[in-house]
Order: sequence, then C-alpha cells, then structure tokens
Amino acid sequence: MANEVKKIALLTGGGDCPGLNAVIRAVTRTAVLKYGYEVIGYKYGYKGLYNNDIVPLTLDTVSGILHKGGTILYSSNKDNLFEYQVEENGKRIKKDVSDIAVENLKKEGVDVLVVIGGDGTLTSARDFSRKGVKIIGVPKTIDNDLAATQTTFGFYSALDVATEALDRLHTTAESHHRVMILEVMGRNAGWIALYSGLAGSADVILLPEIPYDIERIADKIKGRGKNGKPFSIIVVAEGAKPRDGEVVVSKIVENSPDPIRLGGIGNKLALDLEKYIDDHEMRCTVLGHIQRGGNASTFDRILSTRYGVAAVELIHKGKFGNMVCLKGDEMSYEHLENVIGQNKVVDPEGELVKAARSIGVSFGE
Ligand code: F6P
Repeated sequence: MANEVKKIALLTGGGDCPGLNAVIRAVTRTAVLKYGYEVIGYKYGYKGLYNNDIVPLTLDTVSGILHKGGTILYSSNKDNLFEYQVEENGKRIKKDVSDIAVENLKKEGVDVLVVIGGDGTLTSARDFSRKGVKIIGVPKTIDNDLAATQTTFGFYSALDVATEALDRLHTTAESHHRVMILEVMGRNAGWIALYSGLAGSADVILLPEIPYDIERIADKIKGRGKNGKPFSIIVVAEGAKPRDGEVVVSKIVENSPDPIRLGGIGNKLALDLEKYIDDHEMRCTVLGHIQRGGNASTFDRILSTRYGVAAVELIHKGKFGNMVCLKGDEMSYEHLENVIGQNKVVDPEGELVKAARSIGVSFGE
C-alpha cells in the first residue's frame, strides 16, 4: 500500500504562526530525500485547492525557510469548501464545492494531502477524509488549544514575544509607578497568558478559565504598594471575563468557521480598575498579531521539523486520516475523527495554576 504513493500535496490553513515553513520544509525534504515522492503545495489554503493554484515544492523551493515566520504557501481562514461563498445569479450563496477539490486532486495525481492547520482547517480535513481523500493532519496554533497534542507549534514562539513584552513593560512600570496591562491572544484558552505571565513574572494573570473579581485585582495592587512595590504587571488573555460579565468581542469575521474575534478586555480592565486605584496610572498594551509574526523559536523549529517528518512517515505507513501529535516526548498520531472540537483549556486546579498561586500570583479570584 505504502509504495503506491508517488505524489503528495501540502496546504496551510487558518491563522498563520511561526513554524509553518519549518513543517513545509521537513515534509518536502523527507518526502523527496527519503521516499522519492513528488511534492506540490496549494496556495492560500483550501482556496488554492478549489482554484487549482499550485506551486511545486522541491529541495530548492524549501531552502532557507526553516526559521522564517509566515507560510510560503500563504493561508486563509475563511475558505471552508463545504460551505464556500460563490456568486450565483447575482447572489452570494454558500455552496458545497468539495467535489471540485476532490476532482482537482485526482486530475493533479495527488495521492495524499497534508493539511497543516488548527481546529477549523482540520475539521475540513476530516470531512475530506470522510469523502475518501487520503489526508494527514498537522496541528498548528499559537493558542495551544488542541487537546490531542501536548504542544502545537507556534505556541512557544508566541510566548517568547509575550515574555519579552512583559520584561519591557516591567522596566517602564517601575520607573513610573504604573499598572501595566498586557493583553495577549489565545481565544478561549489561557495558555499564552498563563505561560507568559509566569515567565514574565506578572503579578496578576487573568484567564478565560478563571473569571475575575475586579476588587481582588485591586487588593493585589494595593498590597504590593504597601510592600514597597508601587507598580504592577497584569497579563490578561483576550478571552478573560469578569465574574459577572462577558468576553469582549472586537469584530465578527463573516465566512470564517469561527467568526468571533476577541479583543478589548485589556482596555476595559484599565478603565474598570481606575475606579479602585487612584494612586497609579494604568496603561494597556494589546500585543495582537506581533505574537504570530517573526521567526520561529528554537523549540518551534525543532517541533515543526519533527511534525513534518512524522507526517511523511505516516504516509509511508499508509496511516491516512490521522493527525500527527506530540505525546510526552514521543511523536504519535490520533485519528482526525477523535481530534476535532476537542479543545484543551487551562485547568484552574492544575499544577501550573497552583504553582503560580504558591508564588503569590493573583488570578483575580
Ligand atoms: O487562533 C490564533 C489567533 O491568533 C487567536 O489567538 C486570535 O484570537 C485569532 O487567531 C485572531 O485571528 P485573526 O488573525 O483573524 O485576527
């Protein structure tokens, strides 16, 4: 079965993150050097599969991209081919165009499609797998919120950015005796906030998983002032919310599998806190897409390479319909049917949260 494979294709979907190019490189190099497969890429995610927008992937085209952020194949987080926006009779309607994509794969002679993406992209991968397409999934997201894998690539690169931002905020907070708030990404999971908050010695970490009480945050800041620390650092996850409130939505992106974009809680928090703290000024920094840009961290370059190699090994073994994942220290895999919609969030009573509480970090509880 394994030696029937001659040609494989790759696509990257959803929000980008550092490490995508490292996966593309590792898949291509392993496929070409170890198994002699031909490799092509579809540009702009599933949109390229629909439009047959192809680029050959060779040892040459993937040279020099290991460290680079972004994706040489480009990405889209809107193009679900099972509900694709098309224009018919002057009207925009949603249509299932997945058969066209399957036809394109056949015409191109593609035996296996490697899909690199988060939950939305991998949901379509599962649906193509159900239609008989031989698929291998590779998990990516800075949010680290996919349950089937211990760590997604991109997460540690985002953490490096957030941690450096906190280090920088610390020095200016101390000079001006201010309260500095850093809003980080992560959707409905608090991993980026928790890890960067610990690494960047935040005084308060606010997570979607632990709704906060504004008065407890004020107590923490005042307590620090009494102890000779007249400045404080707060990391707030974009999905955090007050105990009696809601998340802050920054925009709705039509056609996106998950249309809600979070953002704005940092500034809301600053305004709310000002009512309780009158001896410190507040400033909020929203880190935004800086967390998704730039070079991949050392850890992510290695993890992405391992994911890419493992994806091709699955192809060689004929284990289609699976997603590669990291379990403990080992590369492993899990069937796509079991990974979709299985989000991983921070356990409020988990070891890391408890460790943070032990060293005096407040979660605004
Ligand atoms: O899932 C990755 C992520 O960066 C989230 O942390 C964030 O909420 C979202 O994507 C932002 O999406 P967009 O790139 O569409 O603004």
